[in-house]
Amino acid sequence: MERTFVAIKPDGVQRGLVGPILTRFEQRGFRILALKMLTVPREMAEKHYAVHQGKFFYEDLVKYIGSGPVVAMVLEGVEAIKAVRLMVGATRPYEAAPGTIRGDYALTGLRNLIHASDSPETAQAEIALWFAPEEIQSYTRDLDRWIYE
Ligand SMILES: Nc1ncnc2c1ncn2[C@@H]1O[C@H](COP(=O)(O)OP(=O)(O)O)[C@@H](O)[C@H]1O
Ligand SMILES: [Mg+2]
Repeated sequence: MERTFVAIKPDGVQRGLVGPILTRFEQRGFRILALKMLTVPREMAEKHYAVHQGKFFYEDLVKYIGSGPVVAMVLEGVEAIKAVRLMVGATRPYEAAPGTIRGDYALTGLRNLIHASDSPETAQAEIALWFAPEEIQSYTRDLDRWIYE
């Protein structure tokens, strides 16, 4: 089992896509271990996007993620990091494959609805940045045996 961090960005919340996006992850078989809504403070946005510091779009990116409430979550499942990234789709929405979240709900620019960790290292760091340990549940569901057996 693997854990990954996902955030529905402010455009996803504004467009009323929280439900459809959560539904996709639940229906795929991921367990939601943590879930909350928050408006990301500047300092946290800078930490979250530290790898992009210095890039031309950095300032815009930090403002974008802090521009309204986001829905943050920790998901758990087999190969969760890779599988969730595949469900999210390519960074540029017009290049994202149909069937992916970005490919189905986004079109232009970089208002691309959702963030997902891209490696085990970033997943660990992002989960620790966004959630306190006591906010993360550990449980199994009766239906997991139908998914994982
Ligand atoms: N060239 C760019 N111009 C403006 N914004 C960008 C650009 N590249 C990436 N971004 C924004 O920064 C976010 C983080 O970039 P990156 O980590 O490369 O993509 P991803 O979100 O697919 O992991 C993107 O989701 C997007 O919102
Ligand atoms: Mg990224």
